[in-house]
Amino acid sequence: MRNLSLLLVIAMMAALLQTVASAATKKVNTKTPRILVPLYIYPEPGAWDPLYTAIRNSPSAAFLVIINPNSGPGDGSAPDSDYASAIQQLRSTAAANQTLELIGYVPTGYGKRSASQVKSFISTYAKWPRSVRPDGIFFDETITSQKYLAKYRNYTDFVKSQSWGVSTKTPSNATYAQRKGITMLNPGTWPESDKFWSIADHIVVYEDKLSNFDFGEYQQLTQNNVPVASNFQRSYIFYNVDSANVTTKDGRNFMGVDALVNATIRVLASRGGLFITDLKIGEEDVYAKFSGIWQEFVKMVGASS
Ligand SMILES: *[C@@H]1O[C@H](CO)[C@@H](O)[C@H](O)[C@H]1NC(C)=O
Ligand SMILES: *[C@@H]1O[C@H](CO)[C@@H](O)[C@H](O)[C@H]1NC(C)=O
Ligand SMILES: *[C@@H]1O[C@H](CO)[C@@H](O)[C@H](O)[C@H]1NC(C)=O
Ligand SMILES: *[C@@H]1O[C@H](CO)[C@@H](O)[C@H](O)[C@H]1NC(C)=O
Ligand SMILES: *[C@@H]1O[C@H](CO)[C@@H](O)[C@H](O)[C@H]1NC(C)=O
Repeated sequence: MRNLSLLLVIAMMAALLQTVASAATKKVNTKTPRILVPLYIYPEPGAWDPLYTAIRNSPSAAFLVIINPNSGPGDGSAPDSDYASAIQQLRSTAAANQTLELIGYVPTGYGKRSASQVKSFISTYAKWPRSVRPDGIFFDETITSQKYLAKYRNYTDFVKSQSWGVSTKTPSNATYAQRKGITMLNPGTWPESDKFWSIADHIVVYEDKLSNFDFGEYQQLTQNNVPVASNFQRSYIFYNVDSANVTTKDGRNFMGVDALVNATIRVLASRGGLFITDLKIGEEDVYAKFSGIWQEFVKMVGASS
């Protein structure tokens, strides 16, 4: 009896301490692998439904969604009403304890687009009304030679200096706080200069067909770059994934899409963002619709969370 009440007191104190600790040290969940969603589909009624369904069906999955009205934020100081209501629906679909982060698409022209235009795109997103404002920026067409480092550092610094996101989805008792000013670079290949790892939250290190992917080379790059590139930074995009023949350039044959997901998360130790589609570049726009393996892919990443 006495022991039992003592145990109870200890348990209550532990619970209390935990509450205090989580309130004081709210931090970003970097352990759950992110599902990267290049959402380049115009939100006609119903067009984003496969995303809402995926979010609902995989409550433990974490999503990083790229919002792209018109190869950038589009004209005007706010997204049109279709976009605005779709973004609001997206936000409200995520459960209170679920990670859903939105980042605005900004093309950088492989360093050639003028800095003033890039910054004006960033400011436009940052000034969208609170209810639809994203949480950071996705920089497409990134060039990662040393020569361009200062330019891209200016961009990511600029993102961090702006005000982002809605905080309403994060209850005060949530384990993980929402991040502010997320920065993701997309060179589509492993960064040429290592220094790029120090200026961005995430980097897409591969964006191409799976059949062009040298798994062994990336495994080596991953091992060679510990600790400069963290697991939470590295992100991958694979297209032309044929679920009946999941084979890489160096002849790795995965048993199915789930084995490829598992290998990317466990062997390549990537948690920054993963996107896999069976749509085929060269034959179609791989971002124009949700793929045939979309729901399955989300479930697999969710199951690895
Ligand atoms: C959120 O809570 C639901 C219901 O308790 C649970 O199924 C889900 O896994 C939780 N999600 C996270 C990310 O913890
Ligand atoms: C970075 O920003 C600073 C301050 O605005 C500017 O002086 C500098 O020229 C920029 N560098 C590059 C490479 O864009
Ligand atoms: C967190 O707070 C919300 C809103 O105050 C409440 O409904 C929910 O039950 C709380 N969750 C936990 C795990 O305490
Ligand atoms: C599977 O894909 C690989 C790489 O694209 C190709 O070389 C091979 O012939 C394919 N196998 C079958 C059975 O289609
Ligand atoms: C996932 O990958 C790990 C590491 O290679 C391996 O040990 C495990 O068996 C894999 N699990 C599945 C379900 O493929």
